[in-house]
Amino acid sequence: MPDLLGSLRRTHTCGALRAANVGETVVLLGWVHRIRDLGSLCFLDLRDRYGLTQVVGRDGDVLAKIQGLKTEHVVAVIGHVERRSAETINARLGTGEIEIVATEIRLLNEAKRPPFQIADDAPVSEESRLRYRYLDLRKPRMQANLILRHKVAKAIRDYFDGQGFVEVETPILNKSTPEGARDYLVPSRVHGGEFYALPQSPQMFKQILMVAGMDRYFQIARCFRDEDLRADRQPEFTQVDVEISFATQDLVFELIEPVIAAAFAQIGVEVPRPFPRMAYSEAMAKYGSDKPDLRCGMPIHDLTDLVRESTFGPFRAALDTAGAVRALVVDGAASYSRREIDELTEQARQLGASGLIWARRSAEGAIQSSALKAVGEAAVQQWLDATGAGPADLVVVAAGEPDNTSKVLGQLRLTLAKKAGLLAPDRFVFTWVVDFPLFEWDADERRWNSMHHPFTSPVDEDIALLDVDPGKVRAKAYDLVLNGSEIGGGSIRIHDTALQATMFRLLNISDEDAKARFGFFLEALEYGTPPHGGIALGLDRLVAILSGEQSIREVIAFPKTAAAVDLMSGAPSTVDAKQLKELSIRVALTPRQGAS
Ligand code: AMO
Repeated sequence: MPDLLGSLRRTHTCGALRAANVGETVVLLGWVHRIRDLGSLCFLDLRDRYGLTQVVGRDGDVLAKIQGLKTEHVVAVIGHVERRSAETINARLGTGEIEIVATEIRLLNEAKRPPFQIADDAPVSEESRLRYRYLDLRKPRMQANLILRHKVAKAIRDYFDGQGFVEVETPILNKSTPEGARDYLVPSRVHGGEFYALPQSPQMFKQILMVAGMDRYFQIARCFRDEDLRADRQPEFTQVDVEISFATQDLVFELIEPVIAAAFAQIGVEVPRPFPRMAYSEAMAKYGSDKPDLRCGMPIHDLTDLVRESTFGPFRAALDTAGAVRALVVDGAASYSRREIDELTEQARQLGASGLIWARRSAEGAIQSSALKAVGEAAVQQWLDATGAGPADLVVVAAGEPDNTSKVLGQLRLTLAKKAGLLAPDRFVFTWVVDFPLFEWDADERRWNSMHHPFTSPVDEDIALLDVDPGKVRAKAYDLVLNGSEIGGGSIRIHDTALQATMFRLLNISDEDAKARFGFFLEALEYGTPPHGGIALGLDRLVAILSGEQSIREVIAFPKTAAAVDLMSGAPSTVDAKQLKELSIRVALTPRQGAS
């Protein structure tokens, strides 16, 4: 039988006591972090989410009681605060100047022996951390992450409230209108054979709220997407979702940049504003990505015009098929060994390049290149000059389909920048990526798809191109990119029904299809829709960057694995036959092993 808490009240947390409290009688409640038994003296480090306090048992029952405690037992300590002797002061601990001499210990609850040590740097597998998440969340790092997340969410709410935004909750059980990812479906019992879908985002509802005259909406909204998971993707995640009536792109940026500043203020970082903007085409050409990491320079150089007349095989093959020749300067890599260069080439091949050509000056200034024999010294000299490569640098050149060539070099750029330590986690470089194409060509299906979603407005000047050259039409769509991570995306929407109809036609969505999928939404748009636009920020990604974490799993209390499983609860799981019957569902598959 554990001891009773009774009417005992905590007087201080485990992070609170200082030298000024010496002499006070206190009550602390927490978990046993560590016991150090010296025989006639026993130390107990008591832990709660505020910190650690050293407790000492000196004699009698109290000493014996502390000696009998185990890690993670829950205890109450009653005692008085004493100053530690000079040589035992622990400067790394807020409470390091004092200790509590216990007069009574109550064991409020025992704990099973934990499968891993509750310490940030203790070795433990990811699987074990997720399986025993409640223990993992006792660690200071995880507690700090959750607290930071709370503070960021609060700062965001306060900011929006101050700007006249109203937080409105939108439904979780929705009509299925598949967007980019697959829907999570929930069967209806009342309407057998019919399904609700969990929201991939509150997109249509927030637009309808603009039709409803809410003017400025936001919501810290849970979203669900059944897609392949990565470090920055979870099947359920949280968006800071925003919609604004009578919005222009500039107004959205003006209202959103302070949200980001408010979030960064939580870690004491001042964010310079306004954020720079970069056209999608520039991001792709120069960085090979629509989410460029701008912490390092290393832009991709276009050599296509320079080598236009070249007869060099790999260049000619690219140039004759409307391809491009592009190059990357790898700072300080002139000293790379052949093996290192071979590794780089192999990496480029794996990324989809047909090969990689390199060039540099030797220590004596001689020009060297894998294509030296084929193109001659003068040509290589031109490449080195055009890219501005210094004597210590290595230039790598790739030729092929333009987007693919940039993507390959973009990936190499990131790997090399990381290797060179150029991607400092405490530097924060923002950019708005703007002027996305409205459509992307699906070569397999031979049709246009929306790059963002079908309700995204084209840029005014490009509307005339819609029927003539859809591939050239730019969208009023934008992404907010931070350190190579897309932390938000949005657009100005179409509010004109005729323009919306044109969009559906170009996207090959028939009237019946559009009506069946989003009829309710299109109908709403016919009742006086103000021009409007908005954005959604990925809260998990933002908080992960703020807390210096590599994965959003570290800032989500109960995340899923890469296989979309909750290792703690065992979700997803089979359900009993009665439930299935009520839902008119018959299961054709054998459940995965281990699922209950
Ligand atoms: P989008 O699909 O770009 O836009 O999503 C907005 C932001 O949400 C984050 N995000 C994710 N975070 C974690 N796990 C995921 N699986 C995941 N998917 C997306 C990203 C992304 O930038 N309705 C539109 C917004 C709008 O147009 O207003 C939307 O959902 O940070």
